Amino acid sequence: MGKYRIAWLPGDGIGIEVMDATRLVLDRLGLDAEYIHGDIGWEFWCKEADALPARTVDLLKNVDAALFGAITSKPVKDSEAELVPELRGKGLVYRSPIVRMRQMFDLYTCLRPCKAYPGNPLNHKEGIDLVVFRENTEDLYAGVEFNPVPDELAATLRKLSKPFAAFDGLASDQYAVSCKINTKKGSERIVRAAYEFAAKHGRKKVTIVHKANVVRATDGLFLEEAKKVAKQFPGIETDDANIDAIGMWLLKNPFNYDVLVAPNLYGDIISDLCAQMVGGLGFGCSGNIGLKLGVFEPTHGSAPKHAGKQKANPIATILAAKMMLDWLGETAMGARVEAATAAVIAEGKVRTYDMGGSSTTMEMGRAIADKL
Ligand code: NAI
Ligand code: MG
Repeated sequence: MGKYRIAWLPGDGIGIEVMDATRLVLDRLGLDAEYIHGDIGWEFWCKEADALPARTVDLLKNVDAALFGAITSKPVKDSEAELVPELRGKGLVYRSPIVRMRQMFDLYTCLRPCKAYPGNPLNHKEGIDLVVFRENTEDLYAGVEFNPVPDELAATLRKLSKPFAAFDGLASDQYAVSCKINTKKGSERIVRAAYEFAAKHGRKKVTIVHKANVVRATDGLFLEEAKKVAKQFPGIETDDANIDAIGMWLLKNPFNYDVLVAPNLYGDIISDLCAQMVGGLGFGCSGNIGLKLGVFEPTHGSAPKHAGKQKANPIATILAAKMMLDWLGETAMGARVEAATAAVIAEGKVRTYDMGGSSTTMEMGRAIADKL
């Protein structure tokens, strides 16, 4: 029995390879941990109609943290078609395991640091160091969606809101509705997490991202709650920006920004933009953090076209493991993993295909482990 119990969730596709490479690093580091495998991913959807089986949920209730590789998701109709024959035609609906984990364990913070490690040929500019806090449980990802729209909802919508031209008089199977739901509690706690992080790590500025001038109800509420929190941190500069404008500004002058906080969808978008500025999907790491559990993962998916070829860059997952170590309080180990990763990047001898090289996933993992 180690000091920590860690759920080990490789998933499928390149998730398996990047996790193997990451394990080399953790094992060399000598973290006193027990890694417990959990079933998750496409295989379990096909065989059991559940990509996140109940046994994995139970495992997650009894661990200190989880490291998650990647999984495949497919649209509703394609998913149904890939079920084993005896499970087809029962109305079983695929739901993303990562979205379920976030909601089930209230992992309300999605933390995505985006740092340009010196010498990475993929850096948009050297010196970029951004941290994105994305709300992780509500907003347009709340899962309250209708297609077709039930008559009851259609009638209520017509009664309560002034129908815009295209919607007026439409039959209920001619449109769909996804609800953007933002709560005061959900907005307050993600913004507070961003400011607390900024205060703890000596960050100078927090930028609140929204579209409150157009999406008045929900983004208006988010911005209002955010400004209340900001007042409690007078030592940290606050500004806010529209989601569309920030795309241009971030690309033009990333050095004007430091910590960014946003509702779920906007956070998803800007974190991909920020990740691309520091090397792309092979470098984007992410923590899904609640009060009791943290699930750490690369932001990329299962990249089926590269699966099983030892091509994928494991750095995103290795940096996710670094975030996990920090979250567990093992910050000295976290710093060693980051320094080793930075050293391999700077040296430029071992590079996966995305960095212009031909090293394998395991070679990258081994090179980083060797630098520890
Ligand atoms: P993806 O992130 O899997 O891959 C897109 C492309 O990015 C790849 O084809 C590859 O060129 C590059 N890439 C991704 N990871 C890389 C790595 N570690 N090293 C080097 N290059 C890398 O996104 P895609 O193709 O849209 O989705 C594939 C599957 O993954 C889908 O089923 C999707 O639903 C799922 N997905 C799962 C996520 C998760 O597990 N959290 C997140 C995003 C997508
Ligand atoms: Mg994304």
